[in-house]
Amino acid sequence: MLKGRSLIDPMDFSTEELDEIFDLAHLIKNNPEEYSQICKGRILATLFYEPSTRTRFSFEAAMLRLGGNVIGFSEPNSSSVSKGESISDTIRVVSCYADVVAMRHPKEGAPKIAAMYSDIPVINAGDGGHQHPTQTLTDLFTIKLVRKSLSNITIGVCGDLKFGRTVHSLIKAMSRYENVKFVMISPKELKVPEYIINEVLEKNNIQYEEAEKLEDVMEKLDILYMTRVQKERFFNEEDYIRLKDSYILDAEKMKLAKKDMFVLHPLPRVNEIAYEVDDDPRAYYFKQAKNGMYVRMALMAKQLGVR
Ligand code: CP
Repeated sequence: MLKGRSLIDPMDFSTEELDEIFDLAHLIKNNPEEYSQICKGRILATLFYEPSTRTRFSFEAAMLRLGGNVIGFSEPNSSSVSKGESISDTIRVVSCYADVVAMRHPKEGAPKIAAMYSDIPVINAGDGGHQHPTQTLTDLFTIKLVRKSLSNITIGVCGDLKFGRTVHSLIKAMSRYENVKFVMISPKELKVPEYIINEVLEKNNIQYEEAEKLEDVMEKLDILYMTRVQKERFFNEEDYIRLKDSYILDAEKMKLAKKDMFVLHPLPRVNEIAYEVDDDPRAYYFKQAKNGMYVRMALMAKQLGVR
């Protein structure tokens, strides 16, 4: 039963519950008209303390396409946050006005605090370098669409694996499926955090390897999940400039990949996928972004308990 529940961590929902969301997202995607009024009279609040294009717009589009309405801010200084209001007070008040809230915050754990004080479901729309569970729902839904299953798969994750919260959430969520292998491609300075290695991969006996060169591992991948180097999480600009172009996926490198290896990216892209790759039928990142809207429609419909 997903009604009334918050989504803070990708493991908050069981794999069966995720399937419920994916099944509904599938139905909505194939027949959006039928679902266009199911959230009539409901309100989503989007509290974005950090910039966003896809997550905020897809949440807002999702609620509008379900017949509901949206309130919120994309610039916290336009709200009473600028006067020093705490997250707990903000959420207590917002939960008087809305039925569900999506929150993005630079501080890790902020949406979890919000959920503790909220009377309505809180959705973590990204907290610092920590987790991004609705991106993970989008990624899993997309992988399931292109491969028909989330099991028996080798996933390459490439780029900034240290600060990239989407990668942390994806590894966590995929660790529950059978025969999943990870190939983690990054410079030494941007490797997956130790806690993901120890508490997720090692603990669950997930097969993984680490690599520095994308070319060395391309041929074994079923999915390549590219990420940008997260400029906003670096402590000094010199390091960012040195590392920002560590990986650039281009048409030449795509020749090394399987014919059915799909390329995903949570976006925004900066320089890590050359524009020429967009024409390759295996480039799936814009379709993935569209899937994010259907998944968020299904998620909120479930949380609100509407039919
Ligand atoms: N994928 C993603 O979170 O994109 P935005 O930062 O634009 O929301």
